[in-house]
Amino acid sequence: MTDLFDKLKMEAGPLAKYSHMADQYFTFPKLEGEIGPHMTFNGKMMLNWSLNNYLGLANHPEVRKVDAESAAQYGLGSPMGARMMSGNSVHHMELERQLAEFEHKEDAMLLNFGYQGVVSIIDAIVDRKDVIVYDAESHACIIDGVRLHMGKRFVFAHNDMESLEKQLQRATKLVNETGGGILVITEGVFGMSGRQGDLKGVVALKDKYKFRLFVDDAHGFGTMGKTGAGTGEEQGVQDQIDLYFSTFAKAMASIGAFVAGDKRIITYLRYTMRSQIYAKSLPMPLVIGALKRLELLRNKPELREKLWQIVTAMQTGLIERGFNIGMTSSPVTPILFKGGVGEAANMAMDLRENYNIFCSVVIYPVVPKDVIMFRIIPTAAHSMEDVERTLNVFAALKEKLDNGYYRKEELLAVTKSL
Ligand SMILES: Cc1ncc(COP(=O)(O)O)c(C=O)c1O
Repeated sequence: MTDLFDKLKMEAGPLAKYSHMADQYFTFPKLEGEIGPHMTFNGKMMLNWSLNNYLGLANHPEVRKVDAESAAQYGLGSPMGARMMSGNSVHHMELERQLAEFEHKEDAMLLNFGYQGVVSIIDAIVDRKDVIVYDAESHACIIDGVRLHMGKRFVFAHNDMESLEKQLQRATKLVNETGGGILVITEGVFGMSGRQGDLKGVVALKDKYKFRLFVDDAHGFGTMGKTGAGTGEEQGVQDQIDLYFSTFAKAMASIGAFVAGDKRIITYLRYTMRSQIYAKSLPMPLVIGALKRLELLRNKPELREKLWQIVTAMQTGLIERGFNIGMTSSPVTPILFKGGVGEAANMAMDLRENYNIFCSVVIYPVVPKDVIMFRIIPTAAHSMEDVERTLNVFAALKEKLDNGYYRKEELLAVTKSL
Protein backbone atom coordinates (compact mmCIF):
# COMPACT_ATOMS: atom_id res chain seq x y z
CA MET A 1 0.00 0.00 0.00
CA THR A 2 1.28 3.50 -0.81
CA ASP A 3 0.24 6.93 0.29
CA LEU A 4 -1.56 8.37 -2.68
CA PHE A 5 0.25 11.68 -2.54
CA ASP A 6 3.68 10.02 -2.10
CA LYS A 7 3.02 8.24 -5.38
CA LEU A 8 2.17 11.53 -7.10
CA LYS A 9 5.35 13.12 -5.78
CA MET A 10 7.43 10.20 -7.12
CA GLU A 11 5.74 9.95 -10.52
CA ALA A 12 5.23 13.52 -11.61
CA GLY A 13 4.01 12.65 -15.11
CA PRO A 14 5.41 13.41 -18.58
CA LEU A 15 5.28 17.22 -18.30
CA ALA A 16 5.35 17.91 -14.58
CA LYS A 17 8.73 16.16 -14.27
CA TYR A 18 10.24 19.17 -16.07
CA SER A 19 8.38 21.71 -13.93
CA HIS A 20 11.41 22.71 -11.81
CA MET A 21 13.25 23.93 -14.91
CA ALA A 22 10.41 24.85 -17.22
CA ASP A 23 7.93 26.59 -14.92
CA GLN A 24 6.98 30.10 -16.00
CA TYR A 25 9.35 29.92 -18.95
CA PHE A 26 8.35 27.03 -21.22
CA THR A 27 5.29 26.13 -19.21
CA PHE A 28 2.95 28.66 -17.62
CA PRO A 29 4.79 31.67 -19.15
CA LYS A 30 3.24 35.03 -18.31
CA LEU A 31 2.44 37.16 -21.36
CA GLU A 32 1.55 40.63 -20.16
CA GLY A 33 0.02 43.78 -21.62
CA GLU A 34 -2.74 44.33 -24.17
CA ILE A 35 -3.51 41.13 -26.06
CA GLY A 36 -1.96 41.29 -29.52
CA PRO A 37 1.14 40.66 -31.59
CA HIS A 38 3.39 42.59 -29.20
CA MET A 39 3.32 41.56 -25.56
CA THR A 40 5.74 41.55 -22.65
CA PHE A 41 7.41 38.34 -21.50
CA ASN A 42 9.94 38.32 -18.65
CA GLY A 43 10.11 42.13 -18.82
CA LYS A 44 10.89 42.24 -22.56
CA MET A 45 8.60 43.20 -25.44
CA MET A 46 8.13 40.20 -27.73
CA LEU A 47 6.68 39.66 -31.16
CA ASN A 48 4.04 37.12 -30.17
CA TRP A 49 2.78 34.26 -32.37
CA SER A 50 1.26 32.08 -29.70
CA LEU A 51 -2.39 33.13 -29.29
CA ASN A 52 -5.42 31.73 -31.14
CA ASN A 53 -6.76 35.27 -31.43
CA TYR A 54 -7.19 34.59 -35.18
CA LEU A 55 -9.32 37.60 -36.09
CA GLY A 56 -7.71 39.95 -33.60
CA LEU A 57 -11.01 40.30 -31.72
CA ALA A 58 -9.52 39.99 -28.22
CA ASN A 59 -8.50 43.62 -28.21
CA HIS A 60 -10.92 45.03 -30.79
CA PRO A 61 -12.22 48.37 -29.46
CA GLU A 62 -15.90 47.47 -30.07
CA VAL A 63 -15.45 44.15 -28.28
CA ARG A 64 -13.66 45.75 -25.34
CA LYS A 65 -16.43 48.34 -25.05
CA VAL A 66 -19.27 45.80 -25.03
CA ASP A 67 -17.38 43.51 -22.61
CA ALA A 68 -16.91 46.42 -20.18
CA GLU A 69 -20.46 47.77 -20.51
CA SER A 70 -22.15 44.39 -20.11
CA ALA A 71 -19.95 43.55 -17.10
CA ALA A 72 -20.89 46.90 -15.54
CA GLN A 73 -24.58 46.35 -16.25
CA TYR A 74 -24.98 42.71 -15.21
CA GLY A 75 -21.90 41.76 -13.17
CA LEU A 76 -20.45 38.27 -13.49
CA GLY A 77 -23.12 36.63 -11.34
CA SER A 78 -26.02 37.06 -13.73
CA PRO A 79 -27.94 34.93 -14.53
CA MET A 80 -27.82 32.77 -11.39
CA GLY A 81 -28.36 29.03 -11.58
CA ALA A 82 -28.27 26.45 -14.34
CA ARG A 83 -30.04 27.29 -17.62
CA MET A 84 -32.75 24.70 -17.00
CA MET A 85 -33.60 25.95 -13.50
CA SER A 86 -33.18 29.72 -13.33
CA GLY A 87 -30.24 30.76 -15.53
CA ASN A 88 -31.87 31.41 -18.90
CA SER A 89 -32.07 34.83 -20.60
CA VAL A 90 -33.14 36.44 -23.88
CA HIS A 91 -29.46 37.05 -24.64
CA HIS A 92 -28.56 33.36 -24.27
CA MET A 93 -31.44 32.44 -26.57
CA GLU A 94 -30.60 35.12 -29.11
CA LEU A 95 -26.97 34.01 -29.28
CA GLU A 96 -28.11 30.43 -29.88
CA ARG A 97 -30.48 31.58 -32.61
CA GLN A 98 -27.72 33.53 -34.37
CA LEU A 99 -25.17 30.72 -34.08
CA ALA A 100 -27.63 28.22 -35.57
CA GLU A 101 -28.42 30.59 -38.43
CA PHE A 102 -24.73 31.24 -39.10
CA GLU A 103 -23.94 27.51 -39.15
CA HIS A 104 -26.98 26.66 -41.31
CA LYS A 105 -28.41 24.42 -38.62
CA GLU A 106 -31.89 24.31 -37.13
CA ASP A 107 -30.78 24.99 -33.58
CA ALA A 108 -27.76 25.57 -31.37
CA MET A 109 -26.99 25.20 -27.68
CA LEU A 110 -24.53 27.22 -25.61
CA LEU A 111 -21.88 25.40 -23.59
CA ASN A 112 -19.90 26.85 -20.70
CA PHE A 113 -16.59 25.39 -21.88
CA GLY A 114 -15.57 23.61 -25.03
CA TYR A 115 -13.63 20.83 -23.37
CA GLN A 116 -16.31 19.83 -20.92
CA GLY A 117 -19.00 20.38 -23.55
CA VAL A 118 -17.48 17.87 -25.95
CA VAL A 119 -16.98 15.28 -23.21
CA SER A 120 -20.58 15.71 -22.14
CA ILE A 121 -22.08 15.70 -25.66
CA ILE A 122 -20.43 12.34 -26.36
CA ASP A 123 -21.61 11.04 -23.00
CA ALA A 124 -25.17 12.15 -23.74
CA ILE A 125 -25.61 10.80 -27.24
CA VAL A 126 -24.26 7.25 -27.07
CA ASP A 127 -25.13 4.28 -24.89
CA ARG A 128 -23.53 0.85 -24.45
CA LYS A 129 -25.10 -0.51 -27.65
CA ASP A 130 -23.60 2.25 -29.81
CA VAL A 131 -20.12 2.35 -31.34
CA ILE A 132 -17.85 5.39 -31.59
CA VAL A 133 -15.35 5.63 -34.45
CA TYR A 134 -12.89 8.50 -33.97
CA ASP A 135 -9.71 9.98 -35.46
CA ALA A 136 -6.45 8.88 -33.81
CA GLU A 137 -5.21 12.46 -33.40
CA SER A 138 -8.35 13.80 -31.78
CA HIS A 139 -8.15 16.54 -29.15
CA ALA A 140 -8.10 15.50 -25.48
CA CYS A 141 -11.76 16.48 -25.03
CA ILE A 142 -12.81 13.92 -27.67
CA ILE A 143 -10.55 11.24 -26.21
CA ASP A 144 -11.94 11.89 -22.73
CA GLY A 145 -15.54 11.81 -23.99
CA VAL A 146 -14.80 8.50 -25.68
CA ARG A 147 -13.32 7.21 -22.40
CA LEU A 148 -16.70 7.70 -20.73
CA HIS A 149 -18.40 5.53 -23.34
CA MET A 150 -19.60 2.17 -22.02
CA GLY A 151 -19.78 0.53 -25.45
CA LYS A 152 -17.17 -0.20 -28.10
CA ARG A 153 -14.92 2.42 -29.64
CA PHE A 154 -12.75 2.04 -32.73
CA VAL A 155 -10.00 4.44 -33.66
CA PHE A 156 -9.07 5.15 -37.29
CA ALA A 157 -5.61 6.23 -38.47
CA HIS A 158 -5.37 10.02 -38.64
CA ASN A 159 -7.38 11.37 -41.57
CA ASP A 160 -7.06 8.01 -43.32
CA MET A 161 -10.31 7.22 -45.13
CA GLU A 162 -9.35 3.60 -45.84
CA SER A 163 -8.78 3.05 -42.17
CA LEU A 164 -12.07 4.79 -41.34
CA GLU A 165 -13.89 2.54 -43.77
CA LYS A 166 -12.36 -0.56 -42.16
CA GLN A 167 -13.46 0.62 -38.73
CA LEU A 168 -16.93 1.42 -40.07
CA GLN A 169 -17.21 -2.13 -41.36
CA ARG A 170 -16.31 -3.48 -37.90
CA ALA A 171 -18.68 -1.03 -36.25
CA THR A 172 -21.53 -1.87 -38.62
CA LYS A 173 -21.13 -5.57 -37.90
CA LEU A 174 -21.30 -4.89 -34.20
CA VAL A 175 -24.31 -2.58 -34.20
CA ASN A 176 -26.16 -5.03 -36.40
CA GLU A 177 -25.89 -7.37 -33.39
CA THR A 178 -26.52 -4.83 -30.61
CA GLY A 179 -29.13 -2.76 -32.39
CA GLY A 180 -27.16 0.41 -31.64
CA GLY A 181 -25.93 3.24 -33.88
CA ILE A 182 -22.54 4.61 -34.98
CA LEU A 183 -21.03 7.99 -34.11
CA VAL A 184 -18.02 9.19 -36.13
CA ILE A 185 -15.97 11.96 -34.52
CA THR A 186 -13.27 14.08 -36.12
CA GLU A 187 -12.04 17.67 -36.22
CA GLY A 188 -12.39 20.44 -38.78
CA VAL A 189 -8.82 21.68 -38.31
CA PHE A 190 -6.32 19.77 -36.20
CA GLY A 191 -4.83 22.35 -33.88
CA MET A 192 -1.26 21.06 -33.76
CA SER A 193 -0.61 20.29 -37.43
CA GLY A 194 -3.08 22.72 -39.01
CA ARG A 195 -4.26 19.91 -41.25
CA GLN A 196 -7.95 19.91 -42.14
CA GLY A 197 -9.96 16.86 -41.26
CA ASP A 198 -11.04 15.14 -44.49
CA LEU A 199 -14.71 15.94 -43.90
CA LYS A 200 -15.52 15.44 -47.55
CA GLY A 201 -14.01 11.96 -47.41
CA VAL A 202 -15.91 11.09 -44.23
CA VAL A 203 -19.19 12.37 -45.64
CA ALA A 204 -18.69 10.36 -48.86
CA LEU A 205 -18.81 7.20 -46.73
CA LYS A 206 -22.34 8.07 -45.64
CA ASP A 207 -23.52 6.56 -48.95
CA LYS A 208 -22.25 3.14 -47.86
CA TYR A 209 -22.50 3.21 -44.07
CA LYS A 210 -25.09 4.49 -41.63
CA PHE A 211 -23.55 6.82 -39.07
CA ARG A 212 -23.85 10.28 -37.54
CA LEU A 213 -20.97 12.75 -37.80
CA PHE A 214 -19.79 15.00 -34.96
CA VAL A 215 -17.14 17.60 -35.89
CA ASP A 216 -15.08 19.66 -33.43
CA ASP A 217 -14.21 22.78 -35.45
CA ALA A 218 -12.49 24.78 -32.71
CA HIS A 219 -9.82 26.14 -35.09
CA GLY A 220 -12.00 26.32 -38.21
CA PHE A 221 -14.85 28.44 -36.86
CA GLY A 222 -14.34 32.04 -37.99
CA THR A 223 -11.22 31.22 -40.00
CA MET A 224 -12.36 28.74 -42.67
CA GLY A 225 -15.03 28.93 -45.36
CA LYS A 226 -16.34 31.79 -47.47
CA THR A 227 -18.31 33.32 -44.62
CA GLY A 228 -16.17 31.99 -41.77
CA ALA A 229 -18.77 29.33 -40.88
CA GLY A 230 -15.95 26.81 -40.67
CA THR A 231 -14.38 23.77 -42.25
CA GLY A 232 -17.73 22.25 -43.24
CA GLU A 233 -18.40 25.33 -45.33
CA GLU A 234 -14.83 25.30 -46.67
CA GLN A 235 -15.26 21.72 -47.94
CA GLY A 236 -18.88 22.16 -49.04
CA VAL A 237 -20.27 19.57 -46.61
CA GLN A 238 -21.74 21.65 -43.79
CA ASP A 239 -25.20 20.13 -44.31
CA GLN A 240 -23.76 16.62 -43.81
CA ILE A 241 -22.27 17.42 -40.40
CA ASP A 242 -24.85 16.17 -37.92
CA LEU A 243 -23.40 17.93 -34.90
CA TYR A 244 -21.16 20.94 -35.40
CA PHE A 245 -19.14 22.16 -32.41
CA SER A 246 -16.87 25.12 -31.77
CA THR A 247 -15.39 26.84 -28.76
CA PHE A 248 -15.39 30.63 -28.27
CA ALA A 249 -11.78 30.34 -27.07
CA LYS A 250 -10.14 30.91 -30.47
CA ALA A 251 -11.52 33.15 -33.26
CA MET A 252 -14.11 34.54 -30.80
CA ALA A 253 -11.37 35.34 -28.25
CA SER A 254 -13.52 34.57 -25.22
CA ILE A 255 -14.85 31.69 -23.11
CA GLY A 256 -17.77 29.42 -23.90
CA ALA A 257 -18.71 27.16 -26.80
CA PHE A 258 -21.69 25.86 -28.74
CA VAL A 259 -23.03 22.84 -30.54
CA ALA A 260 -25.41 23.09 -33.50
CA GLY A 261 -27.60 20.54 -35.29
CA ASP A 262 -31.18 19.38 -35.86
CA LYS A 263 -33.72 20.91 -33.51
CA ARG A 264 -34.82 17.63 -31.94
CA ILE A 265 -31.27 16.56 -31.22
CA ILE A 266 -30.33 19.92 -29.70
CA THR A 267 -33.50 19.76 -27.56
CA TYR A 268 -32.43 16.27 -26.48
CA LEU A 269 -29.00 17.64 -25.50
CA ARG A 270 -30.55 20.56 -23.57
CA TYR A 271 -32.43 18.06 -21.41
CA THR A 272 -29.66 15.46 -21.20
CA MET A 273 -26.17 16.98 -21.10
CA ARG A 274 -24.91 16.65 -17.56
CA SER A 275 -22.20 19.34 -17.87
CA GLN A 276 -24.89 21.95 -18.62
CA ILE A 277 -27.78 20.70 -16.51
CA TYR A 278 -25.65 20.51 -13.38
CA ALA A 279 -23.64 23.71 -13.90
CA LYS A 280 -24.29 27.41 -13.68
CA SER A 281 -25.28 29.24 -16.85
CA LEU A 282 -22.70 31.12 -18.95
CA PRO A 283 -22.38 34.64 -17.41
CA MET A 284 -24.27 37.43 -19.16
CA PRO A 285 -21.20 39.55 -20.09
CA LEU A 286 -19.74 36.52 -21.90
CA VAL A 287 -22.99 35.99 -23.80
CA ILE A 288 -23.43 39.65 -24.75
CA GLY A 289 -19.71 39.80 -25.59
CA ALA A 290 -20.12 36.73 -27.83
CA LEU A 291 -23.02 38.39 -29.66
CA LYS A 292 -20.74 41.36 -30.46
CA ARG A 293 -17.90 39.08 -31.56
CA LEU A 294 -20.23 37.07 -33.80
CA GLU A 295 -21.53 40.29 -35.35
CA LEU A 296 -17.97 41.39 -36.20
CA LEU A 297 -17.00 37.91 -37.41
CA ARG A 298 -20.01 37.90 -39.78
CA ASN A 299 -20.02 41.50 -40.91
CA LYS A 300 -16.34 42.27 -41.21
CA PRO A 301 -14.93 39.81 -43.76
CA GLU A 302 -11.91 42.10 -43.98
CA LEU A 303 -10.72 40.61 -40.66
CA ARG A 304 -10.65 37.12 -42.20
CA GLU A 305 -9.06 38.48 -45.39
CA LYS A 306 -6.31 40.12 -43.34
CA LEU A 307 -5.77 36.89 -41.37
CA TRP A 308 -5.32 34.96 -44.62
CA GLN A 309 -3.00 37.61 -46.07
CA ILE A 310 -0.71 37.09 -43.05
CA VAL A 311 -1.11 33.29 -43.18
CA THR A 312 -0.27 33.15 -46.88
CA ALA A 313 2.77 35.43 -46.53
CA MET A 314 4.06 33.38 -43.60
CA GLN A 315 3.46 29.94 -45.11
CA THR A 316 4.75 30.73 -48.62
CA GLY A 317 7.72 32.58 -47.10
CA LEU A 318 8.60 29.52 -45.00
CA ILE A 319 8.20 27.11 -47.93
CA GLU A 320 10.31 29.34 -50.20
CA ARG A 321 13.07 29.32 -47.58
CA GLY A 322 13.01 25.51 -47.46
CA PHE A 323 11.23 25.00 -44.15
CA ASN A 324 9.05 21.97 -43.47
CA ILE A 325 5.58 23.17 -42.45
CA GLY A 326 3.96 19.75 -42.62
CA MET A 327 0.48 19.41 -44.09
CA THR A 328 -1.22 22.54 -42.88
CA SER A 329 -4.10 23.95 -44.91
CA SER A 330 -5.33 26.37 -42.25
CA PRO A 331 -3.86 29.34 -40.36
CA VAL A 332 -2.09 27.04 -37.86
CA THR A 333 1.55 27.03 -39.02
CA PRO A 334 3.92 24.40 -37.65
CA ILE A 335 7.63 24.65 -38.41
CA LEU A 336 9.30 21.27 -38.07
CA PHE A 337 12.96 20.59 -37.36
CA LYS A 338 14.98 17.48 -36.55
CA GLY A 339 16.50 17.59 -33.09
CA GLY A 340 16.25 16.54 -29.46
CA VAL A 341 14.56 18.09 -26.43
CA GLY A 342 17.75 19.93 -25.34
CA GLU A 343 18.14 21.55 -28.76
CA ALA A 344 14.45 22.47 -28.77
CA ALA A 345 14.81 24.23 -25.42
CA ASN A 346 17.95 26.07 -26.57
CA MET A 347 16.31 27.17 -29.81
CA ALA A 348 13.24 28.45 -28.01
CA MET A 349 15.43 30.33 -25.50
CA ASP A 350 17.53 31.84 -28.28
CA LEU A 351 14.33 32.90 -30.07
CA ARG A 352 13.00 34.60 -26.95
CA GLU A 353 16.18 35.99 -25.40
CA ASN A 354 18.10 37.13 -28.47
CA TYR A 355 15.45 37.71 -31.12
CA ASN A 356 12.48 38.74 -28.94
CA ILE A 357 10.05 36.39 -30.63
CA PHE A 358 7.61 34.31 -28.61
CA CYS A 359 5.87 31.25 -30.00
CA SER A 360 4.98 27.84 -28.64
CA VAL A 361 7.51 25.06 -28.89
CA VAL A 362 6.21 21.53 -28.93
CA ILE A 363 8.29 18.50 -27.99
CA TYR A 364 7.94 14.79 -27.30
CA PRO A 365 5.45 13.22 -26.45
CA VAL A 366 3.24 15.56 -28.53
CA VAL A 367 5.58 15.07 -31.51
CA PRO A 368 8.02 12.16 -32.11
CA LYS A 369 11.25 12.10 -30.03
CA ASP A 370 13.56 13.55 -32.68
CA VAL A 371 11.18 16.31 -33.85
CA ILE A 372 11.12 19.92 -32.72
CA MET A 373 7.98 21.83 -33.61
CA PHE A 374 7.49 25.55 -33.34
CA ARG A 375 3.87 26.53 -33.78
CA ILE A 376 3.10 29.92 -35.28
CA ILE A 377 -0.44 31.27 -35.02
CA PRO A 378 -0.89 34.17 -37.45
CA THR A 379 -3.66 36.63 -36.67
CA ALA A 380 -5.40 39.54 -38.39
CA ALA A 381 -3.62 41.84 -35.93
CA HIS A 382 -0.13 40.96 -37.25
CA SER A 383 1.62 43.00 -39.94
CA MET A 384 3.64 42.04 -43.00
CA GLU A 385 6.71 43.45 -41.19
CA ASP A 386 6.08 40.99 -38.36
CA VAL A 387 6.07 38.18 -40.94
CA GLU A 388 9.26 39.37 -42.66
CA ARG A 389 11.12 39.71 -39.39
CA THR A 390 10.04 36.25 -38.26
CA LEU A 391 11.06 34.62 -41.54
CA ASN A 392 14.55 36.13 -41.25
CA VAL A 393 14.90 35.05 -37.64
CA PHE A 394 13.86 31.47 -38.38
CA ALA A 395 16.39 31.36 -41.23
CA ALA A 396 19.09 32.36 -38.70
CA LEU A 397 17.86 29.74 -36.20
CA LYS A 398 17.90 27.00 -38.83
CA GLU A 399 21.47 27.80 -39.76
CA LYS A 400 22.53 27.61 -36.12
CA LEU A 401 20.68 24.30 -35.65
CA ASP A 402 22.30 22.84 -38.77
CA ASN A 403 25.74 23.95 -37.51
CA GLY A 404 25.25 22.15 -34.19
CA TYR A 405 25.15 25.41 -32.23
CA TYR A 406 22.22 24.29 -30.04
CA ARG A 407 24.07 21.10 -29.06
CA LYS A 408 26.89 23.00 -27.35
CA GLU A 409 27.54 21.77 -23.82
CA GLU A 410 27.44 25.22 -22.22
CA LEU A 411 24.07 25.97 -23.85
CA LEU A 412 22.63 22.66 -22.72
CA ALA A 413 23.85 23.45 -19.19
CA VAL A 414 22.03 26.82 -19.22
CA THR A 415 18.81 25.13 -20.26
CA LYS A 416 19.18 22.53 -17.53
CA SER A 417 19.71 25.19 -14.87
CA LEU A 418 16.61 27.18 -15.79
C1 LIG B 1 -10.02 21.09 -30.89
C2 LIG B 1 -10.40 21.68 -29.57
N1 LIG B 1 -11.55 21.29 -28.99
C3 LIG B 1 -11.95 21.79 -27.80
C4 LIG B 1 -11.17 22.70 -27.12
C5 LIG B 1 -11.61 23.14 -25.76
O1 LIG B 1 -12.26 24.35 -25.76
P1 LIG B 1 -12.36 25.25 -24.44
O2 LIG B 1 -11.08 26.01 -24.32
O3 LIG B 1 -13.55 26.13 -24.70
O4 LIG B 1 -12.58 24.34 -23.27
C6 LIG B 1 -9.97 23.13 -27.69
C7 LIG B 1 -9.11 24.14 -27.02
O5 LIG B 1 -9.47 25.17 -26.57
C8 LIG B 1 -9.58 22.62 -28.95
O6 LIG B 1 -8.44 23.00 -29.54
